[in-house]
Amino acid sequence: MEASSYFVFLVVFCCSVLPSLKSESELPRGHGEELGKHRDPEGHIPVLYDVPSPLEFWEKYASQRKPVLLKGVAKNFPAYSQWTDEYLRENYGELKVKLEAKVEKDHYPVGEKGLAQDTIRNFLKTYKNQDKYIVSQLPDPMSKEVLVLPCVRCGSFKNRVLEANLWLSSGGTKSLLHKDADNAFNCLLNGTKDWILIDPEHEVNVPMAEEAVSEYGGFSLINVDGVNLQRYPDFAKVPWWYANITAGDCLWLPYSYLHQVRSYGTKNMAVSVLFSRLKEFDSTGCDTAKPEYTPLSEADMVWTYDGVTSQTMGNTDPFELNETLVHWCEENKDKQVDAATFLKGLEEMQAMEEEDDAENTAVHDEDILEEISRRVMMILDPTGRGSASCDRLKQLTVAELKAVAEVMSSDPANTEEYEYKTFSPENVRTVIMSVYDKDADRLDLEAFIQQYQDILQGSEKIAREVFEVLDPDNKGYANKNDLKGGMSQVMDMFTPRQIEDPAGVQWEQAQREDEMFRRDAETPMQTHREDNKQAGHSHGEL
Ligand SMILES: *[C@@H]1O[C@H](CO)[C@@H](O)[C@H](O)[C@H]1NC(C)=O
Ligand SMILES: *[C@@H]1O[C@H](CO)[C@@H](O)[C@H](O)[C@H]1NC(C)=O
Ligand SMILES: *[C@@H]1O[C@H](CO)[C@@H](O)[C@H](O)[C@H]1NC(C)=O
Repeated sequence: MEASSYFVFLVVFCCSVLPSLKSESELPRGHGEELGKHRDPEGHIPVLYDVPSPLEFWEKYASQRKPVLLKGVAKNFPAYSQWTDEYLRENYGELKVKLEAKVEKDHYPVGEKGLAQDTIRNFLKTYKNQDKYIVSQLPDPMSKEVLVLPCVRCGSFKNRVLEANLWLSSGGTKSLLHKDADNAFNCLLNGTKDWILIDPEHEVNVPMAEEAVSEYGGFSLINVDGVNLQRYPDFAKVPWWYANITAGDCLWLPYSYLHQVRSYGTKNMAVSVLFSRLKEFDSTGCDTAKPEYTPLSEADMVWTYDGVTSQTMGNTDPFELNETLVHWCEENKDKQVDAATFLKGLEEMQAMEEEDDAENTAVHDEDILEEISRRVMMILDPTGRGSASCDRLKQLTVAELKAVAEVMSSDPANTEEYEYKTFSPENVRTVIMSVYDKDADRLDLEAFIQQYQDILQGSEKIAREVFEVLDPDNKGYANKNDLKGGMSQVMDMFTPRQIEDPAGVQWEQAQREDEMFRRDAETPMQTHREDNKQAGHSHGEL
């Protein structure tokens, strides 16, 4: 009796006093180390060796927002056995895909079609020894060789397939800790991937970049190679799970579920299929016909991509947009929306999460929002009366909702014009003038292409397009008169105004500040990423 109360006293004493006695040098567990070193994992996420029934899948995983690993269920996808580099080159070589760097948010690599845009053929030629990673919408012609799992082929999920993405690298990729807006099945076709997963209920202790209130996605400010636990002490409390996936496995990743992914292998390839954030599940059709594996090409996907024109990757879910629009409309006394009410709604959506001030918009430019409202009204009210009723909104077709979504949210990196939107006219002029030889009165084509690539990290394709304007007669050089005639046109090709991406700016700031805290030696990956850092430009949504 006495001994045990003495023990309790000691425990209470030691634990209430110790933290204040802790010396400065006693750092929290895992400080400055890789993500996950701050505490032991809770374990591996659940693993199933068969696809569950649609109802079991909904009840145990999707509705609970729980991730699950379905082991080996992608081994019967034609893509799993057919998509060798040779096959992809021969069948899909000319299709266009979007690129990212192996380290997320590091820079945008250049491909044959410009900044962040490449052909599959050129990618396959270069990916083993260049820092590039296909993170792209899946071109439609490839979707016949990808299957949709039976558990999402009936009931509510059936018509809520949003888009499909392709992931391909030579391994060694590293994402940020982030969350995506939609549910996804991510099926690995080659290589291995390690996932660190954090349940949404613990996001309160994860430092996140501020996003607009309308965003379901977003990323954490922590450096995944050196977590700064002095700066973010609450992160020490965050429990985490992990998933180790190998080729042939599919991972169900619930929407807005924090995750960080590293990839391994000499070829690492995956396809993900995205689904709406369903709140309810109508199981009509689930018990009659036996749901089967279905080619993605037959799945009636919302956002498709022909592999030739611009992508729609990351666009808003039109069914969710429908709810938002109708909700906005119903809030108005006269049950109508016009450009002004729409603009107000947009401002509220764009406002930053931590400020309830609608004036403080994520995309500052009022002009841009006004332009968006005007264009949306043209879709909602094609007759040009100036307003649309809530009844009209409830009857919008999926095609009309998609048109509205495209006006409201399209990533500039989805297009071949991205390079023009990213480089400032001033920087392009500087490159032109640095190559122009005054004495010889000559701007040489090859020298210009070289400098444009070296200084701006731009593409040969766009360098040639710029030069064509300066040298319309195709002489192979431009002189003073040519520059006089063409310079202003070249300046107009590049977008002068950079749309600020506040979350991106905040992230870069956090990384710089974190760097000062770092005690560990730089890893080779980080040295590498400094080398590749592109001359300052910010990437904005919209
Ligand atoms: C990719 O996966 C296929 C199918 O399992 C396999 O035959 C091939 O060897 C793998 N390639 C690489 C480079 O891992
Ligand atoms: C599984 O993934 C975790 C989290 O990334 C990693 O720490 C662990 O080493 C992996 N285990 C295996 C067996 O690959
Ligand atoms: C949009 O929402 C309304 C209910 O507000 C619904 O009746 C309609 O079917 C929805 N439209 C689409 C295309 O889902």
